[in-house]
Amino acid sequence: MTIDQIINLLNLDLSWEYAAMIQYIQHASLLTGPEYFAIINEELQHAQDEHEHAVRLTDKIQYLGGFPTVNVQEIKTSLSNVEMLRQDLQAEYDALHRYLQRIEQLEALKLYDVAQVIREIALVEQGHIIDLEKSLGIQKVR
Ligand SMILES: [Fe+2]
Ligand SMILES: [Fe+2]
Repeated sequence: MTIDQIINLLNLDLSWEYAAMIQYIQHASLLTGPEYFAIINEELQHAQDEHEHAVRLTDKIQYLGGFPTVNVQEIKTSLSNVEMLRQDLQAEYDALHRYLQRIEQLEALKLYDVAQVIREIALVEQGHIIDLEKSLGIQKVR
């Protein structure tokens, strides 16, 4: 792994953050029904968190000498409340998976400072996962 490769991967993460932010804003506007009313604000809060992640990633990409991308990955949508929440949860699982890989890769390059920022972002994604699993009624007790 080289610095150039890690910059490319951080740009990939950034393009997924932009997609997540837009997806949450759109889903918040489409969610409907009494049992989903409280989740609308949750989704808008997630959108703000993804916005902050995008800003933090652009900072680190620039710090490493990269050129922050303006690409946006594919956004998933649906007219079904449950399907939208499932799409959001899958995106969060994917994001956490990418960030856990990124922490290892950054630490292998001794970029512990950048790795720390990714660790903080990963923790927020874990919180998003918990919110969405609860919203979907996913029972995890073994
Ligand atoms: Fe994020
Ligand atoms: Fe998230």
